[in-house]
Amino acid sequence: DQTRQIAQTLAEFRLSKAQLLEVKKRMRTEIENGLGKKTHDSATVKMLPTYVRSTPDGTENGDFLALDLGGTNFRVLLVKIRSGKRRTVEMHNKIYAIPTEVMQGTGEEVQQWLKLLNVISQKPLDSGILVNWTKGFKCTDCEGEDVVELLREGIKRKEEFDLDVVAVVNDTVGTMMTCAYEEPTCEVGLIAGTGSNACYMEEMRNIETVEGNEGRMCVNMEWGAFGDNGCLDDIRTQYDCAVDENSLNEGKQRYEKMCSGMYLGEIVRNILIDLTKRGFLFRGKISETLKTRGIFETKFLSQIESDRLALLQVRAILQQLGLDSTCDDSIIVKEVCSTVSRRAAQICGAGMAGVVDKIRENRGLDHLDVTVGVDGTLYKLHPHFSRIFHQTVKELAPKCNVNFLLSEDGSGKGAALITAVGCRQRVQEA
Ligand code: BG6
Repeated sequence: DQTRQIAQTLAEFRLSKAQLLEVKKRMRTEIENGLGKKTHDSATVKMLPTYVRSTPDGTENGDFLALDLGGTNFRVLLVKIRSGKRRTVEMHNKIYAIPTEVMQGTGEEVQQWLKLLNVISQKPLDSGILVNWTKGFKCTDCEGEDVVELLREGIKRKEEFDLDVVAVVNDTVGTMMTCAYEEPTCEVGLIAGTGSNACYMEEMRNIETVEGNEGRMCVNMEWGAFGDNGCLDDIRTQYDCAVDENSLNEGKQRYEKMCSGMYLGEIVRNILIDLTKRGFLFRGKISETLKTRGIFETKFLSQIESDRLALLQVRAILQQLGLDSTCDDSIIVKEVCSTVSRRAAQICGAGMAGVVDKIRENRGLDHLDVTVGVDGTLYKLHPHFSRIFHQTVKELAPKCNVNFLLSEDGSGKGAALITAVGCRQRVQEA
């Protein structure tokens, strides 16, 4: 009976093909809403135009400075891109830890700190600087501000060097561009990591929020917000709702909360708490550890689900986390983890199936060959996520032959490539 009740609890997470096709269809609807002139303002999937109008073609050339403001580090990169037969990308890195005062301080403090570093001035530059604002920052007066303007002002005040700010880059776009440099069919970027997001090359004529109908532009979907209008409510479980209620941004990023590394562990933890309350786990005792938010990081989930691990080793991991488990407990925990990560891979795949099918239809093709550039710890570290994700895309978008390419350093190299392509096009248009 216990087995049956546990199975019943987990059954809610097992989605049928029909349900996944429904997710795909709804993603498509939200895509159209985000792109449409009249629907954009109220849309949840924002479909932000990136002004990136082309992927690299190999003729890019120049030296580029990229600033990657990540969660814990501030990275300054000098990227030298050379065109021709033996195209090369050479990168020089400098990494600085970001003090917490700065991370949670004001925009002015960030600028002060950037000045202090004095890292930008001596580099010989002929083309551009590129900024990539990523997660982790909470600078009060920056939100809604044009960060490029802030940076420009900062540089101007310093009066020591001359730089041109060319682009602000989202990591999905950086990921797509990095892969596109090696593989021209790469026209989609995916982050399946701490967060979840995607971008792809959309036809200009379909992007009603931007003037012009010629050619294509990369659109940063911000697909993590899919479902924020309630359109995924029928597949969200009580555990998804609990995770959402305990989060810093309640009601927001509902899709992301079902399929990204930052939240999978939390879904697992909420299920384990419930199963323990019902007396099926940990001898019915909820430990302080189990009450701790964020204990199941992606790397632990990945370890627990690794097929090479014997149950004894799973127990050792739980022990490490401060959870005393019996052999039966460890079997259940593993089952919970794999059920949650499988659903994550499947709904992420359903979203992607919607994207590639849209690209195919855009081009009036019966069949599309396309490559997706991917980055993120969930995709790279988890033992099953990528396989189930690939399978799902294949099943739900049978008219597309989708390849997946791992991206390295999308926010550094990709950012420089975006600038390089921008400069190439400027020259071509002049
Ligand atoms: C990195 C990319 O490798 O992966 C970043 O350079 C990206 O641009 C990151 O944001 C995403 O992975 P995760 O798992 O750290 O969120």
